[in-house]
Amino acid sequence: MKYIKDHENLSQKSVLLRLDLNVPLKNGLITDKTRIDKILPIINFLLSKNSRIIVVSHVGRPNGKKNSDLSMRPICEYLEKKIKKKIKLVSDNIFRLEKDDLFKEKFDEIICLENIRFYEKEEKNDTSLAKQLAGLADLFVNDAFSCSHRAHTSICKITEFLPSFAGLQLEAELSALKKVTSEIVKPITCIIGGSKISTKIGIIKNLIPKFNNIIIVGGMANNVLNYKGNQIGKSVKEKNCEKIIEEIFETSKQYSCSIIYPVDVLVGKTVNSVSKVKVLDEIDNDDLILDIGPKTIDTIKKVIENSETVLWNGPAGYFENPNFANGSHEIAKAIIKKNKKKSIYSVVGGGDTIALINGIGAIRDFNFVSTAGGAFLEYLEGKDLPGIKALG
Ligand code: 3PG
Repeated sequence: MKYIKDHENLSQKSVLLRLDLNVPLKNGLITDKTRIDKILPIINFLLSKNSRIIVVSHVGRPNGKKNSDLSMRPICEYLEKKIKKKIKLVSDNIFRLEKDDLFKEKFDEIICLENIRFYEKEEKNDTSLAKQLAGLADLFVNDAFSCSHRAHTSICKITEFLPSFAGLQLEAELSALKKVTSEIVKPITCIIGGSKISTKIGIIKNLIPKFNNIIIVGGMANNVLNYKGNQIGKSVKEKNCEKIIEEIFETSKQYSCSIIYPVDVLVGKTVNSVSKVKVLDEIDNDDLILDIGPKTIDTIKKVIENSETVLWNGPAGYFENPNFANGSHEIAKAIIKKNKKKSIYSVVGGGDTIALINGIGAIRDFNFVSTAGGAFLEYLEGKDLPGIKALG
């Protein structure tokens, strides 16, 4: 893989820069700007090298049709304010554009093409669109790790027609993920939560052979508790998961990986209730398990204390109600405490987990926070990401 930071002559070069500016929009307003803030380094880097930047991104899923609600305009406007430079949004049909049409004015430095998913050829990894895009630039940079699980034109096919490089953010993301998959410093622990165990089974299975501990929390722990013969009242539970759980315990024995799950919990009668601590044999038929209990927190803290590396994906409870946020907050605090002493390497990912640590203003207290959703999960499952493969 070639890295853009090592490129020696970027001056006056036109760079086709694939970013993931797929941010949530509501009535034309951006409701979460984290992804945009994360790509500022590559923009500033290319500007410092006097490159000309052609930004390509998608927003939402317009299914190959123009959709004014999914325009890049609000994103360009926010980006302009952040970098204090003008960005020209080009809405013309890409197939009618020529290289000389771009950067006509003396001070044009950044151009942004309209939502690339307005073209149905984007999701088809199409050669004609790739050639057309390639004709507009001198080189291609992928700084969209979070789109790299998609075999789409502006991620994959384009690399066949332009010299292609990994961007700064993509490089950082890969380097952090390698520390929890291939270049591991042990002991290593994974804390995995969320509501559906079936969506995380690929990750758990892939990590068991390499990890010392896997801590299962959140709604998906209810399946484990039930499998182990505990009553879980009316808590969320996924159907037909027994085989999956059996497999997790069998494989973990084979690889001496400890599987840790709650020994006590916080329950409520509804998600809006106050919380009550219960050990497992006290759970009533109308109880909802909504967080981990104090004994479980103690165990998790000890495991974190003894770990050199930690990967965290998925909250420990229903943190939207502060009465059930304690487990997740205590996990965060235990990791942050070790991080401050520089005695752990921590990687965090997943929308809910990011929302949680954002909520306590701790986003900078972890070594790496991944904003990639599907790509993060697929990488941890051990899958080859087509966009990464295409970079060579
Ligand atoms: C994401 O949000 O995970 C990426 O932008 C990819 O979006 P997609 O799931 O619509 O392909």
